[in-house]
Amino acid sequence: MFLEVKGLHVSYGDIEAVSGVDFYLEKGELVSIIGANGAGKTTILNCVMGIIPPKEGAIIFKGKEITGIPDFERARMGIRIVPERSRVFPRLTVYENLLTGFYRIRDREKFSERLSWLYEVFPVLRNRQGQLASTLSGGEQQQLSIARALISNPELLLVDEVSMGLMPKLVDQVFEILKRLNEEHGLTILLVEQNAYASLNISKRAYVLETGTCVLEGDAHELMSNPEVKEVYLGN
Ligand SMILES: Nc1ncnc2c1ncn2[C@@H]1O[C@H](COP(=O)(O)OP(=O)(O)OP(=O)(O)O)[C@@H](O)[C@H]1O
Ligand SMILES: [Mg+2]
Repeated sequence: MFLEVKGLHVSYGDIEAVSGVDFYLEKGELVSIIGANGAGKTTILNCVMGIIPPKEGAIIFKGKEITGIPDFERARMGIRIVPERSRVFPRLTVYENLLTGFYRIRDREKFSERLSWLYEVFPVLRNRQGQLASTLSGGEQQQLSIARALISNPELLLVDEVSMGLMPKLVDQVFEILKRLNEEHGLTILLVEQNAYASLNISKRAYVLETGTCVLEGDAHELMSNPEVKEVYLGN
């Protein structure tokens, strides 16, 4: 198993946000967690990244328990996150933002290689590489945030609500890119989304989260035809 999360409980003070969630990802899988506002999606991703500690439970990455390991160590192990509301460094240029995402700082040659690949995937970033990130549009910042997570060639990419604030055409493009990264580059992706249609459409499997508990799981396309999922998450 590539990633295994067992019996995860997370609390903020007295409020339990995640109440005993179990899930797994095989290597090379693209898996979604869908759920309404406040269901606990961001909490779960932040826990896998090591940004917040669980109250209970275990996170196992490539056979190694990482539950107590800090986020920068997890980054070194190949886990990267595209955080909710694309956090980029506003006072750094596009290029500098990408540089900060590259933790193998001595490996300059690899950086240039990855950079030209990412500039091909996100041409707008090439055109604006010298521009301050704060002056990018929301959608452009979203692309920068994804590129920043990808620059170090991660093994597991955690993607939090990447469609937020993007126009429909760009949502399609970003999901197409994620699908390509998964299919052509074998990148394992855990996708958290409110845009259930777009995420289920590119996923192999999915989990449905309701107030901190996983209520449904299975093949993503089967879930898309599940009447309950259709009514609650797909709006028909
Ligand atoms: N720092 C915090 N302090 C207190 N409560 C929090 C904190 N962060 C999240 N919560 C609560 O935990 C629950 C889960 O939040 P979380 O952000 O994980 O939901 P989500 O599924 O990502 O929602 P959304 O779709 O709106 O992003 C919510 O009820 C939220 O109010
Ligand atoms: Mg969230």
